[in-house]
Amino acid sequence: MKAALVCGAGGFIGGHLVRRLRAEGYWVRGADLKRHEYSDTEAHDFMVGDLRDPYFCRQVIDRRFDEVYQLAADMGGAGFIFTGENDADIMHNSATINLNVLDACYKRLIRRVFYSSSACVYPAHNQEDPDNPNCEESSAYPAAPDSEYGWEKLFSERLYLTYSRCYGMDTRIARYHNIFGPEGTWTGGREKAPAALCRKIAAAPNGGAIEIWGDGRQTRSFLHVSECVEGTLRLMRSDVRFPLNIGSDEMVTINQLADLIAEIAGKRIEKRHMPGPLGVRGRNSDNRRIEQELGWKPSLPLVEGLRATYAWIEQQAQQQPLGVAA
Ligand code: NAD
Ligand code: GDD
Repeated sequence: MKAALVCGAGGFIGGHLVRRLRAEGYWVRGADLKRHEYSDTEAHDFMVGDLRDPYFCRQVIDRRFDEVYQLAADMGGAGFIFTGENDADIMHNSATINLNVLDACYKRLIRRVFYSSSACVYPAHNQEDPDNPNCEESSAYPAAPDSEYGWEKLFSERLYLTYSRCYGMDTRIARYHNIFGPEGTWTGGREKAPAALCRKIAAAPNGGAIEIWGDGRQTRSFLHVSECVEGTLRLMRSDVRFPLNIGSDEMVTINQLADLIAEIAGKRIEKRHMPGPLGVRGRNSDNRRIEQELGWKPSLPLVEGLRATYAWIEQQAQQQPLGVAA
């Protein structure tokens, strides 16, 4: 029986990954500061602790693991990473986790380690035109990310690449582009646009209004978590040693995203634009390289992923009415 460790198993993508690995017959250990909020992650073994602590890392990481997935990070959506207030925590916490986890893997002779990087590594100046953002993998350098979160991801990518080069480890790196789906953060300040807009629309009456940060003409693409997990496993088991985008290339404006969710909810919704943390003006996943390297790219239409996500958030909001405030 193969064994896998998922760091960040108490989180959104980590929880889905644990479930998939178990379904494939793996023995799975999860590690996180906290257990999963929304459902049992079903790991065979779950260790609660702080991966900034090198001693905890050495307890969690033993020689049995064929695959280690490193998803633990201090992260969130625009309301968390673009305000500036959380920058020191983001850089310190996530960099420390990556330094500890990777070094413990090396010392325990684990070869194959996956790292979850982000589209936030791409230069801000290539994402100013909402209709034509450039997120080709090779465009990450010369580096100029628009957030400290992006700089930490870039540093950690280099860390994983360096361990691969100097110590012969098989590290694999994905640059995720805005992942959404059921069991993701939907309230509390760290939620991303799909979950935030589902929550606001679920709380609004038919004919009511919701607040949207900015003019809503900024563009993004959103990838359903099932395809994120699929791409992660395909990349992990490939021989691709350089970072690859894992994202959707179905680019929409935030206004279009809101309209799509309102349609799914069956409500007429007025969009009220207001100042807020915005991030880059445009972003879309460039999927040429992943298709070329893995013979696969995400293909699930946005609307399909949103239907399941809206239904889940609407149900959560009904159970916790205090959590639905816009
Ligand atoms: P998440 O916040 O749901 O999960 C991250 C988990 O890490 C959380 O459960 C958190 O408790 C845990 N964690 C944080 N600090 C820790 C510590 N010191 N010790 C142990 N655990 C700790 O986020 P997610 O959406 O599942 O993202 C997973 C990874 O993918 C992260 O590295 C994130 O930066 C990256 N990523 C996600 C997206 C996205 O859109 N979700 C996009 C780009 C990159
Ligand atoms: N979160 C949120 N909430 N965003 C909103 C809202 C709202 O109520 N209204 C409008 N937006 C706008 C934001 O201002 C931003 O311009 C856009 O929607 C997308 O915001 P997010 O989904 O929060 O984040 P992001 O796409 O800028 O960055 C996310 O994706 C990266 C990978 O592509 C983050 O999750 C990063 O952590 C991640 O690495």
